[in-house]
Amino acid sequence: MQHEAQNEILDEILASSSLEELQTVKTKYLGKNGLVTSQLKEMGKLSPEERKAKGAEINALKTSLEGAVEARKEVLEQAALEAKLHSEAIDVTLPALHFPVGGLHIISRILADLEGMFGRLGYRTVLGQEVEDDLHNFDALNIPWFHPARDLWDTFWMTDGRLLRTHTSPMQIRYMLEHTAPLRITVPGKVYRYEATDATHESMFHQLEGLLVGDNIRMSDLKGTIAEIARGLFGPSTKVRFQPSYYPFVEPGADFSVWWENPRGESKWLELGGCGMVHPSVFRAVDDLREALGKPRTYEGKTGFAFGLGAERIAMLKYGIPDIRYFYQNDLKVLGQFRGELETLSILEAL
Ligand code: PHE
Repeated sequence: MQHEAQNEILDEILASSSLEELQTVKTKYLGKNGLVTSQLKEMGKLSPEERKAKGAEINALKTSLEGAVEARKEVLEQAALEAKLHSEAIDVTLPALHFPVGGLHIISRILADLEGMFGRLGYRTVLGQEVEDDLHNFDALNIPWFHPARDLWDTFWMTDGRLLRTHTSPMQIRYMLEHTAPLRITVPGKVYRYEATDATHESMFHQLEGLLVGDNIRMSDLKGTIAEIARGLFGPSTKVRFQPSYYPFVEPGADFSVWWENPRGESKWLELGGCGMVHPSVFRAVDDLREALGKPRTYEGKTGFAFGLGAERIAMLKYGIPDIRYFYQNDLKVLGQFRGELETLSILEAL
């Protein structure tokens, strides 16, 4: 083969810009039907002397072309690798992607904390229903329809005569209808009041009801329980105060407050909820209802206490939140400050 022709082929190899192109060139000259192979085939027609010279020439060409293809292949492979590395490079100086993480609403957290604390005192969490009736929300709680105390709870009435529960106390009745003493329950959940909203009033808020029934239960048991929870919420040296108050379903009844101090030196008593010893009329109403359902009367002579805590109140005190309306405006700048870990407590089902 001519020297020139060989150089041309070498140029062609060098000019191939991708591995595919190189393969095409290789096939064209070195493949089964390639130029070199067909020249080798042609040799049969030559005389032995000619064949010897020609054979050496073709073999030299073949070796030289194969070497050039290999060298080019290495170069192209290296380039391909570099291109790949370049395209997959990570620039660690770029700002990271932002993945917002959800969390528990502050009220869910307060209720979950309370569930944990009462759980350790042996209380069981049960859930009531938000749509209630007169009987459970009022009558059986010693608040007959003509009683002026009904005005203590401004009620959302539904057109069918039912209502949105004004407190979690109806669950006291529902639970005692199904269970006998001794019993210890807490009931977290939403309650509704038909009232104008302002910094301390919302038409929906959360309560945690407590009820304990047994034998020889005393006011001191109630005070000890409330004090324990207040200290769990606000710290071991929290002072708690009980003041006489009126709720038709307890006697005696009380409101309880904690002594609140802030870093600026302000301090005052702040009310957390109501409580008292279960009124005998409530036990009687439960027994009457049980009897009507064909169940034995079992609450006569029992004693117990009940209490109701306001979850929003606790959160406002604990974190210095000045306005109850912040909780449900769903401004993430506000709520995000109180984001808690996700927990799987049964109260979460209710929220
Ligand atoms: N249910 C009362 C309320 O919402 C609070 C309370 C509960 C008071 C239990 C005494 C005992 O106002």
